Amino acid sequence: MELKNNSTVGIVGLGLMGGSIVAALLISNQKVVAVAPIVSDLDKAAPDRIRHYLEECLREGLTTKTPDELLVNITYTPDYAQLEKCWLVMECVIENLAVKQEVYKKIEACVSDEVIITSNTSAIPISMLQNHCRVPERFFGMHWGEPSYTSFFLEIICGEKSPVEIGEQLCAVAKQWGKEPTLVRKDIRGFITNRIMYAMYREAFNLVENGYATIADVDNACKNDGGRWMAFCGLFRYMDLTGLKAYHAVMKDLFPELSNQTTVPKLIDDIAKAGGNGVSNGNGFYDYTPEEAKKWEETFEEFSFDLHRLSSKYTEKVADMSSKNILK
Ligand SMILES: NC(=O)c1ccc[n+]([C@@H]2O[C@H](COP(=O)([O-])OP(=O)(O)OC[C@H]3O[C@@H](n4cnc5c(N)ncnc54)[C@H](O)[C@@H]3O)[C@@H](O)[C@H]2O)c1
Repeated sequence: MELKNNSTVGIVGLGLMGGSIVAALLISNQKVVAVAPIVSDLDKAAPDRIRHYLEECLREGLTTKTPDELLVNITYTPDYAQLEKCWLVMECVIENLAVKQEVYKKIEACVSDEVIITSNTSAIPISMLQNHCRVPERFFGMHWGEPSYTSFFLEIICGEKSPVEIGEQLCAVAKQWGKEPTLVRKDIRGFITNRIMYAMYREAFNLVENGYATIADVDNACKNDGGRWMAFCGLFRYMDLTGLKAYHAVMKDLFPELSNQTTVPKLIDDIAKAGGNGVSNGNGFYDYTPEEAKKWEETFEEFSFDLHRLSSKYTEKVADMSSKNILK
């Protein structure tokens, strides 16, 4: 199988992430066909949101082109047949196996067998999804970060039947989009970051539910400890930087005491079952007035642009050193 990049990329699903991914692709001058399976997404919501992201990208210097100049590269449509000209189609619909399965059927009915299809799933195993495709070996996970236009994060995941060499070629394309892609060579539920982050979430619930710390204290501790160095160098480099013998010693005593709970924590279960969704409806681990919710969303967007600038500076600085290292 050979990857044929004719430069038009398709995306199906224009929700929160679909819109954000479209903006990331447009600022890297990629031609995009954006399919809205729920037609009402096209009325205003998705195009308006994408235009807003592009305005922000121009204001923050991530592109020198105006939204109007960038938007000539996008075709919005409810019609899957428009995907026919794409070399890659990314599925970005709700996290529901049956819905995703239906979407793959519709995509595969419109594209030729060598077109790559990817899913932005957060946690459904890629091997499971690819078995619902007519041509499973052209199927990969492509897991973006939010907001996709400021994040360097992009996980490419091989399923049991996806050739690793194609995964490597997808990584090369992702670099052209300005990303720092990671390749998951063997499928595993949750991939890299969700496995690591969910291990952290579990321990955070353990600390709060058992009275060791408040929600706010856990948040502040994470923000000011891991949050400061993770964006610079990740986990293993940080252990190298700070002396790995200490970690070796602590692991022996601490690992047996960490939470290994296998059920959903009561704290989140109660909120979710009562309809709470966080900032989007003002009811989460914290409560938000509509004004506070808006301020949190805007401030997060502003922070992510600043972080993009800071990370870009240090990514360039360490690029030379990293390429000289022999990575184990
Ligand atoms: N939100 C995040 O931060 C994040 C991060 C990484 C991965 N993801 C994954 O990305 C995918 C999309 O998430 P999102 O946050 O954009 O969700 P969303 O709810 O904002 O958007 C979902 C999209 O799915 C479409 N959709 C809804 N019902 C459908 C149906 N019956 N048939 C076809 N399409 C339908 C909607 O039109 C919408 O465009 C999910 O698989 C999610 O797990 C989300």
